[in-house]
Amino acid sequence: MQTEVELLNTSKPRHIAIIMDGNGRWAQKRLLPRAMGHRAGVKTVRKIVEFCASEEIEVLTLFAFSSENWRRPKEEVSLLMNLFFSTLQTEIDRLDRNNIRIHFIGDRSAFSEKLQNKINQGENQTRNNDGLNLVIAVNYGGRWDIKEATKSIAESVMLGQLQISDINEEAIRKRLSIADLPEPDLFIRTGGEKRISNFLLWHLAYTELYFTPELWPDFDKESMKKAIEDFSTRQRRFGHTGEQINNKLQNLK
Ligand code: IPE
Ligand code: IPE
Ligand code: MG
Repeated sequence: MQTEVELLNTSKPRHIAIIMDGNGRWAQKRLLPRAMGHRAGVKTVRKIVEFCASEEIEVLTLFAFSSENWRRPKEEVSLLMNLFFSTLQTEIDRLDRNNIRIHFIGDRSAFSEKLQNKINQGENQTRNNDGLNLVIAVNYGGRWDIKEATKSIAESVMLGQLQISDINEEAIRKRLSIADLPEPDLFIRTGGEKRISNFLLWHLAYTELYFTPELWPDFDKESMKKAIEDFSTRQRRFGHTGEQINNKLQNLK
């Protein structure tokens, strides 16, 4: 858990969470198949991961495939799965060499055994790295996450390990994905849509939101710098008044 002081400090976000949207439109604009947009999107992922590692950001969470993306044409779904596998195949060693620790969140049971093995390998191989935490959300949905936490609470109650009167926010929080990492400070969505699309619902409660019309394949280090710059002008209040926050920040100096 972050301290209050850490949460109020907007000089640099500790955790950035991104909805990487706009691959399809990027390709369509160029009269290319959507697949080319997804391929271009992978290149952006590489650049942004490198940027976050070099800027010593602690956590980068990327929404790669939502629990609703299965609704896409089956050719596109299978292309995304193949691209996901081949990207992991080529990138895991490089991430490992760069001291990056990979985590996956989402329901992985829906994936092929081959893909599940790759995911597990990525997590195991990078387990001891203490640089950037790269969280990939695949077959992830914020509602799924809350549902899983609810099941876990029900189980604990049934086993007599938890009293109903002890169910509080902390009991829920610690059962959600990435409970051991700081909550997102900055949320970025590319592609122009202004919605959360079932991403980290619980975790985004007090995250600073940033929307940009740039399509994901066009997003780059400069765009990231702009988003971080914008974040640094925000005042996080968490329900307090602006005056209270100014006083708290003043006392820190
Ligand atoms: C985001 O780009 C990538 C995934 C959802 C996998 P889109 O494929 O949603 O691109 P647009 O929104 O159609 O342009
Ligand atoms: C959100 O993008 C999911 C990912 C980027 C993985 P979508 O393109 O699926 O979102 P909607 O359908 O426009 O809300
Ligand atoms: Mg989209």
